[in-house]
Amino acid sequence: MKKMASGMYNILGEGAFEYLAKAQALEREGKKVLHFEIGQPDFPTPEHIKETAYDSIKTNFTGYVAATGILELKQAIQDEVEFSRGFRPDTEQILILPGAKPGIFFTMLGLVNPGDEVIYPDPGFPTYGSVVKYLNAREVPIALNEENDFRLDPKDVEEKITEKTKLIILNSPQNPTGSVMKKHELEKIAELAEEHELYVLGDEIYSKMLYDAEFHSVTIRDETKERTILLDGFSKSYSMTGWRLGYIVGPQQVIEKMGLLMINALSCTTSFVQKAGITALKGDQEPLFEMMRSFRIRRDAIVKGLNSIPNFSCLTPEGAFYTFPNIKKTGMSSREMADHLLYNAHVCCLPGSSFGPNGEGYIRFSYATSVDTINQAIRQIRESFN
Ligand SMILES: Cc1ncc(COP(=O)(O)O)c(C=O)c1O
Repeated sequence: MKKMASGMYNILGEGAFEYLAKAQALEREGKKVLHFEIGQPDFPTPEHIKETAYDSIKTNFTGYVAATGILELKQAIQDEVEFSRGFRPDTEQILILPGAKPGIFFTMLGLVNPGDEVIYPDPGFPTYGSVVKYLNAREVPIALNEENDFRLDPKDVEEKITEKTKLIILNSPQNPTGSVMKKHELEKIAELAEEHELYVLGDEIYSKMLYDAEFHSVTIRDETKERTILLDGFSKSYSMTGWRLGYIVGPQQVIEKMGLLMINALSCTTSFVQKAGITALKGDQEPLFEMMRSFRIRRDAIVKGLNSIPNFSCLTPEGAFYTFPNIKKTGMSSREMADHLLYNAHVCCLPGSSFGPNGEGYIRFSYATSVDTINQAIRQIRESFN
């Protein structure tokens, strides 16, 4: 039998799904597991968004639609980008996708050749490195350091740029650390990209999920005209993970070609889901605000709790719904710790190393669960060390 395509031997899975499967195996044995592994809000999709989808199905809005997305949703995204990033892209610069993840995949498929170098954060969302590997391109991970509150340092980016660099990927607010980049840092990276004629992918899926920090976008200089691709979506802010709806905004000639990728791979994003997306952006934002008020209370509870465990220390994240405690003083590896917590405390979190080598010495908790569950988990973790 001939071998599969070479990239297939390089592509990786995600730690979250691996640990979910381990936790489910324990549950089948009758153990009660407290879940902190999956990055998914525990709130239902708001009612008014669901109503739009029901109505769209009832009125038979169920056929193929334009490959790059329906105009009405693109117009809502124009308003959204103008409001949140301060510039108004053309509708031809917008591509609607089934989730944010295909935006990462298509951007790299569209821009990166074998041998090109791609700079991305470590620890970071596993898809970045995995797709770089799949494309036989070169991974250039940049360490996010706790001493710098896990923010990507533009100086480190500058040092890693070579003739072969094609793309820089940024993610703020960040998964898995919850860090939020500052305006001057994003400006500096945007400047470097301009100077070295590089593309930038700003993964801003958590753009609406901040506590005290202000949101700034890496589109700040280029406004997606020449080199910057903005990625955002509905999964997290509107509790729509299973609906699969996201978008990219980028230079028109790049988006036009990605529209062809879309035609070949998916034809279009689900018609009635796009209608629901319009309601999400244009409708009542109170469910989002309410969710964030709740996440703030949970964040404060989990940070306080984790800091009370001997040899754990935990920064207060400024965005998203993840904490990334340092466990180096326990002497355990992050995988040993995640396994210990799962099997001895019945608390499922993820090893930091599943987000890149620089995540070693940390574990990630997704605090998309109630304060009672958080407090119970902290008690069980403490007892597991007695
Ligand atoms: C940083 C980051 N980007 C992209 C995604 C993917 O989002 P979606 O579910 O819309 O594909 C996630 C989901 O966990 C994420 O954390």
